[in-house]
Amino acid sequence: MQTTNTTGSEILIHVNEISVCYDDLGQAPIPIIFIHGFPFDKTMWQPQLDFFKSSQRVIAYDIRGFGKSTSDNETASMNLYADDLIKFMDLLEIDKAIVCGLSMGGYILLNAVNRYPEKFAAIILSDTQCIADSAEAKEKRYKSIAQIIFGGLENFAEAFVKNIFCNQTLASNNQEVERIKKIILSTSSDTMVAALSALANRWEMCSTLSDIKIPTLILCGSDDAITPLAQSEFMQSKIKNAVLRTIKNAGHLSNLENPLEFSKQINDFVLSLELA
Ligand code: MLT
Repeated sequence: MQTTNTTGSEILIHVNEISVCYDDLGQAPIPIIFIHGFPFDKTMWQPQLDFFKSSQRVIAYDIRGFGKSTSDNETASMNLYADDLIKFMDLLEIDKAIVCGLSMGGYILLNAVNRYPEKFAAIILSDTQCIADSAEAKEKRYKSIAQIIFGGLENFAEAFVKNIFCNQTLASNNQEVERIKKIILSTSSDTMVAALSALANRWEMCSTLSDIKIPTLILCGSDDAITPLAQSEFMQSKIKNAVLRTIKNAGHLSNLENPLEFSKQINDFVLSLELA
């Protein structure tokens, strides 16, 4: 296994011809792996890494092209992102993990669970959904691609942050809003375009939910406007014994908008698991 330590706790590892940057903190037999949403990076999980690092092994990684992970600029897809996750786990010699994916991270997780169920001890689906993009949603993605290619990221980032946070966060936590905007602006246009196209072309996973046989926690911000609570309720109705918890005072980035509540819900869930 080829790994390189960068600054602080960050490590680089060669996965499927690219470099994946990740943090790996704490100790436990079964790690919790966090997958970020679009278009963010692993730093969105800092509150959860801080919460869990003294009691669990927690890993957060940058999806290819995002944060400090590299990309080979090939076409992206949920399949490719999920294959990266599985290869990453294999290289770290992780047989099974508890994996938490937020939004696009959840799309990746549902794809991976469907194809590699043996790699998961439990899953946490946060602010995500199982449906594919409607024709209208696809159209919006293609407009965003054109906007980014011809006009850069500034306008896209400005409009995007207004939708992902709830009003309370927008009014009272400008620091977090600006931090997320900065992450979006530091992402390359190639990565943004590849991911938008992967999002538009993903297929529905709702028909696979009844195959999920492992413990599942579903978390959703009470004011999530991107993947609304109804989508979480629908997933809960399809996944056997899934538990749904609403994170109050939070929009789409519920782990950042109400970090303590989000982490506590995961903690309760993890403690309830009977892991060998
Ligand atoms: C995300 O947060 O990953 C995206 O908003 C998901 C999406 O646009 O479908």
